[in-house]
Amino acid sequence: MSPQTQSPQSNLTDRQPLLSVRDLVKTFGAVRAVDGVSLDLFEEEVVGVIGDNGAGKSTFLSLLAGFHRPDSGRFFHRGEPVAITSPRTSRNRLRIEMIYQNLELAPDLTVWENLFLGQELRRFGGFNDRSSMSERAAEVLERLNTKIKPNDTVGELSGGEKQAVAIGRALLFERDIVIMDEPTAAISVQKVDDVLDLIRRLKSVGKTVILVSHRLEDELAVSDRIVVFWHGRIRTILQNDGLEVNDLIHQMF
Ligand SMILES: Nc1ncnc2c1ncn2[C@@H]1O[C@H](COP(=O)(O)OP(=O)(O)OP(=O)(O)O)[C@@H](O)[C@H]1O
Ligand SMILES: [Mg+2]
Repeated sequence: MSPQTQSPQSNLTDRQPLLSVRDLVKTFGAVRAVDGVSLDLFEEEVVGVIGDNGAGKSTFLSLLAGFHRPDSGRFFHRGEPVAITSPRTSRNRLRIEMIYQNLELAPDLTVWENLFLGQELRRFGGFNDRSSMSERAAEVLERLNTKIKPNDTVGELSGGEKQAVAIGRALLFERDIVIMDEPTAAISVQKVDDVLDLIRRLKSVGKTVILVSHRLEDELAVSDRIVVFWHGRIRTILQNDGLEVNDLIHQMF
């Protein structure tokens, strides 16, 4: 069976989805955190995910990121069945980058060291190739149009700038899908626009961005489609075309 023929919520388009999920279920004891979720994700789009606290948004993302295993359900990558068995398969095989709320950055290290943390470039003899890494870091930062410099110390950056470093890793390692869970929750209001700009930039270079946020105005500002979660299920998927905050609130509760 192809994923298209069994999709309850497939988009009305003949583009092949980059990633399809079908009938995903994840329980924690008696709680059905994700309860039969099917969704198609396409290249070069921003998909907003909203829903009340406990609706299952983060659990759904953790299944995509390979952090949890589903009880049941299937994944298709460009139409081919795949299993997401670990964070490593999610990252390396499906090219998904999950950006966690704490961003997993090392505050005492520089921007370029953070970008390459755990995936350092090496020269013959096994020494770190500092100049290449610093150069590649500068390229990525320029693509993101930030003022951050490779040698800046990450602990001294603003919340929005730290987001840029985390997003930079996704570009550096050529991920296709970037998942962000509440990226604007912990940053100052005047920096929110910078993060939204980064999201638009990711889309403009062809990436798929999944954005979970309780800030509905952020969702309306950048999302192409908005998926509404409700009690572990997708209640509806809205095209972001003339939508207003009240439309979203109406669907969420
Ligand atoms: N590791 C876990 N162990 C047990 N229950 C969990 C676990 N993770 C999530 N849950 C439960 O699953 C349900 C969905 O939680 P989830 O965190 O996915 O919701 P959410 O939509 O991300 O909520 P929020 O908007 O508050 O972040 C909740 O009832 C939650 O208590
Ligand atoms: Mg959550």
